[in-house]
Amino acid sequence: MASQNLQSVPPELSPDEREREQAGQAYFDRIISEDSRIEPRDWMPEAYRKTLLRQISQHAHSEIIGMQPEANWITRAPSLKRKAILMAKVQDEAGHGLYLYSAAETLGQSRDKMMDDLIAGKARYSSIFNYPAISWADMGAIGWLVDGAAICNQVPLCRASYGPYGRAMVRICKEESFHQRQGFEILLELSNGTEAQKQMAQDAVNRWYAPALMMFGPPDDDSPNSKQSMAWNIKRFSNDELRSRFVGMMVEQVKVLGLTLPDDQVRFNEETKKWEHGPLDWNEFKDVLAGRGPCNAQRLERRREAHDDGAWVREAAAEYARKQAEKEYAA
Ligand SMILES: [Fe+2]
Ligand SMILES: [Fe+2]
Repeated sequence: MASQNLQSVPPELSPDEREREQAGQAYFDRIISEDSRIEPRDWMPEAYRKTLLRQISQHAHSEIIGMQPEANWITRAPSLKRKAILMAKVQDEAGHGLYLYSAAETLGQSRDKMMDDLIAGKARYSSIFNYPAISWADMGAIGWLVDGAAICNQVPLCRASYGPYGRAMVRICKEESFHQRQGFEILLELSNGTEAQKQMAQDAVNRWYAPALMMFGPPDDDSPNSKQSMAWNIKRFSNDELRSRFVGMMVEQVKVLGLTLPDDQVRFNEETKKWEHGPLDWNEFKDVLAGRGPCNAQRLERRREAHDDGAWVREAAAEYARKQAEKEYAA
């Protein structure tokens, strides 16, 4: 495996430590070559741990920041049924954040530290959540396109080589399927409504299409870490491969919706057997990731407020735990 070449044992170790490191590396390489799983107490290369920690914590942050564009519409949902469904969906996203923070904690980073980094603007999350949700139809487009892209990305992660991450993804993917269906259904209903409703649905799809395609990350030739992630069985398919599959799924589903994709260059390439799409604005992607998207400041500000509002809950929980421990000690 490539991991053998890329991870060298530091020279300053004592002979005993060196032997342990080498045995650990050999075990790790065998597990990866057998496509088996690494668990939290297993030896792992430091670069593998750091890569996973960065990926899982960014994923967790995306789940909880991603609650904001939709939570914004809960009070304005057009019916009680829609409100109940949207609330359930937003709560699911909070749950996804919790599973993922727990998985990241097994790599030796505390949840408090991850949250501090997010609030301080030091951590990244998916660029898609820095776009505004300006109409009810955006709830449909987010569910259909954004959760749809998330599913494409995340189903292969159920087989990720790090056990806690893969297991968290299994549960998350089941819920994401429900999210995508509810988004599709919102768009379908609008598309079959009045002309103005249909236009609202089309406008939402037009605005969310390109940002959703960019969720898979930069093109393969501009994605330096992908190769190593694939060698470690964290990532199973390249960014462009996943993006192409996603376009292929959407191109069929948009027909059922009676809407169109805002991209006249979508086509199936018979030679490569892959779906192709028009150019994407990667400068915009980099700008949004760097904090210059339409809603970056607002999203972080809201996250800070929510964190401050929750201070009393954390204090009460810590005090309760302290009292419980005191009781157990006295008994
Ligand atoms: Fe999610
Ligand atoms: Fe979701």
